[in-house]
Amino acid sequence: MWKPDRLSKTPIYEQISEHLQLKISQGEYPPGSMLPAERKLAEQLGVNRSTIVQAYAELRSTGMIDSRTGSGTSVSLTKWGANPKQPPDWGSYADSGSFLPNVPFLRKIREMLSVQEELIDFASGELSAELSPSQEITALMQENQFSGYLGYDNPQGYKPLREALVTYLEKYRGIRTSESSILITSGSQQSMFLITKCLLSPGDAVAIEDPSYCYSLPMFQSAGLRLFRLAVDKHGINPEDIRTLYKKHRIKMVFLNPTYHNPTGTVLDDQRRSQLLDITSELGLPIVEDDPFSLTSYDGIAPLPFKSMDRMGSTLYVGSFSKIAASGLRIGWMVAPHTIVERLTDARQQMDFGLSVIPQQVAALFLESERFEPHLERLRMNLRFRRDIMIEALQKELPGLVQFNVPDGGLHLWCKLIPEVNDNKLFESAIKQGAIFVPGSVYGSDSGFVRFTFARPKVNEIGPGIDKFAKALREIVNLSL
Ligand SMILES: Cc1ncc(COP(=O)(O)O)c(C=O)c1O
Repeated sequence: MWKPDRLSKTPIYEQISEHLQLKISQGEYPPGSMLPAERKLAEQLGVNRSTIVQAYAELRSTGMIDSRTGSGTSVSLTKWGANPKQPPDWGSYADSGSFLPNVPFLRKIREMLSVQEELIDFASGELSAELSPSQEITALMQENQFSGYLGYDNPQGYKPLREALVTYLEKYRGIRTSESSILITSGSQQSMFLITKCLLSPGDAVAIEDPSYCYSLPMFQSAGLRLFRLAVDKHGINPEDIRTLYKKHRIKMVFLNPTYHNPTGTVLDDQRRSQLLDITSELGLPIVEDDPFSLTSYDGIAPLPFKSMDRMGSTLYVGSFSKIAASGLRIGWMVAPHTIVERLTDARQQMDFGLSVIPQQVAALFLESERFEPHLERLRMNLRFRRDIMIEALQKELPGLVQFNVPDGGLHLWCKLIPEVNDNKLFESAIKQGAIFVPGSVYGSDSGFVRFTFARPKVNEIGPGIDKFAKALREIVNLSL
């Protein structure tokens, strides 16, 4: 992102005004469009608000922009001549369309992380650079020449990767399948997108966990689905609740993340797993089993997925490389009955003609290499270590003020705050202190819950980050007393 050059002789406000002039002349801010609010732009560029006020005053003096009290600053329409030409009304285009924007907290997290690099990041649910297998992947790319045709590949996914996944799924997840039953997607996110868009219709009722990662995805609302909740306790959801929802609302699909559930870290216990399969097969109800975290199991023993026990073909199994290797490769997969793989492959071809073959090749090489297993062992050990550092820091900084269950796998710690707090105030105050997290309400819970990711910050940032969070919480609680 562009930032003013503090060493330059040109005053900072002038650099900003020139930069904005350039953006206006390039059509990035067409006539009539709004410029960023002064406070927000100041935050983004790391300057005082008064500098932005000066930069805007400079632009206003050229007639290039107009400011009106209460309605912000916009690019002037008249400056561009009295001819009848006018730009499209991009604002109204941006507000239309059937695809909803992200929830405000998630947009704010993305924005803050892009402008405040020093923030300690407990919000992004992914592995830090220290935990990613960058060295292993670099070595594999050096040792293996890229071979192959660079044309459109099979939209179902690169065949050698699907073959490598057949072995992986049997070895690590007890799932016996064939390459023709696997669809490679751009992360598991695209699997979920294809399912909601192609297999369900607006108005359909579906069940999700409460709280749930799915709740944070406006794609469910964009698809017009009606969401019904299945409460998650210490042992996961109660399968009988599915029967109740089916009777009441004729739910058409159940979305579950049964192993090291995001955000709570819960594992659905074995007894409930088999009860759930009995109930769903009795009702002919499909389950989407979202399983990105199993291989992070700290002791290496995660329960078997429904898919491995499912004799009726009720399960659409969704997996991913993101939480065990690299989210940036965007490799996800779905194991499904042939009719579904065919339907979704066809839709997928219409969307993007398939995923780039290069990351698919890299993933296939890594899965089949001798480096994969040691990477996993190291990852598990490091995740457990980080979990313990975070717990120790919370117990030291906030004794008696937070409650949590200790997870046996995954990247997150789900905390209930004992003092009553306002999510918004705590979020803003933590950012001021220098740490960012995801408020529980993003996943549909009441306020007063927090999801901390211990995989994303550097190890030596976890303690100081919790210290900052504790200061923010204390400040809020004292204020409201
Ligand atoms: C439970 C769950 N499912 C799916 C995803 C999507 O991950 P990706 O698209 O990177 O595979 C996430 C990401 O955080 C997740 O937590």
